[in-house]
Amino acid sequence: MMKRSKIIGCGSYLPERVVTNAELSAKLDTTDEWITTRTGIRQRHLAADGELTSDLALKAAERALENANIPASEVDMVVLATTTPDNTFPATATKVQDKLGMVNGAAFDIQAVCSGFIYGMAIADNFIKTSQCKTVVLIGAETFSRILDWEDRSTCVLFGDGAGAVVLRAGEAEPEVNVGESGHNRGTGILSTHLHSDGSTNELLYVDGGPSSTQTVGHVRMNGREVFRHAVTNLASIVGEALEANGLASEDIDWLVPHQANKRILDSTAKKLGLAKEKIVITVDRHANTSAASIPLALDEAVRDGRIKKGDLVLMEAMGGGLTWGAGLVRW
Ligand code: ACO
Repeated sequence: MMKRSKIIGCGSYLPERVVTNAELSAKLDTTDEWITTRTGIRQRHLAADGELTSDLALKAAERALENANIPASEVDMVVLATTTPDNTFPATATKVQDKLGMVNGAAFDIQAVCSGFIYGMAIADNFIKTSQCKTVVLIGAETFSRILDWEDRSTCVLFGDGAGAVVLRAGEAEPEVNVGESGHNRGTGILSTHLHSDGSTNELLYVDGGPSSTQTVGHVRMNGREVFRHAVTNLASIVGEALEANGLASEDIDWLVPHQANKRILDSTAKKLGLAKEKIVITVDRHANTSAASIPLALDEAVRDGRIKKGDLVLMEAMGGGLTWGAGLVRW
């Protein structure tokens, strides 16, 4: 029988330092009012000097393993989604693997910017479904503050640093039973993942540096209006695709855990889907956009405070540079 990936634990970590909009407006030609009304962001966490993506990732992974109540020795794969690796190589995931004290299996990074966690979920899920892996630690971790142009007010106010992780374990796919509002319940775990990209839109959101092009790290550049427009369209379409693949309707969603880019994108997506605002897990006000880390950070918050409960249908979606976008549907 085909295996099913079950989420057996989650964890997250935010750097200690909180930077408010007021603090930014003391150094930059911006205001708390502008940032709040356009984005819903009130503050962000920023990594301390010398605090690296691997440090954030390790803490989130350790918390997820503790929550899953399994030792690192049982993990056979570490998948780390990040756009801000410690170094160009080796993969930051190998550092996390080492610090977890894990020597079995494989560890690697993946790059899909803000969609990284969903891409990582699809990769981990496929390794589990095909029985190549039994237990995967999937992490989204970023120190995005290190690739921001702190003099560009149109981008630097939008992002923050952080990390989140989940532990995925192979389980049995329960037989399909006819319950729930639309008559479908395919059991627990990851039901499906859906990935897309469109490289013809590279220039809407990119970093103007890199090892092969400039031999510098570079800074984030963005056409905010166009990214906004694509986000609303692509996210509504990916949610539709995920629901349709499972014979479900938007009323069946208990929790939407979206990538946290902007409160207005979240509101527009909810409106397009006819989804009640109360069903959306929102952290963008406190975390800002933490790229690949935002979904597992939001997920961990909603699981720990008891909002997400066993049996709930949880939909995760994201869009990011590339453009890349995707969704993952999970029965908790
Ligand atoms: N403070 C004050 N004024 C600012 C700031 C700021 N921080 N940033 C830009 N402005 C000014 C601009 O200079 C412009 O001034 P002008 O009219 O005199 O030229 C004015 O505000 C309006 O600028 P726009 O860019 O048109 O503002 P818009 O309403 O589009 O909002 C924003 C900008 C918030 C970036 C919006 O386009 C957006 O949210 N886009 C989505 C981008 C996003 O979330 N990207 C994240 C990565 S991708 C992802 O994760 C989905």
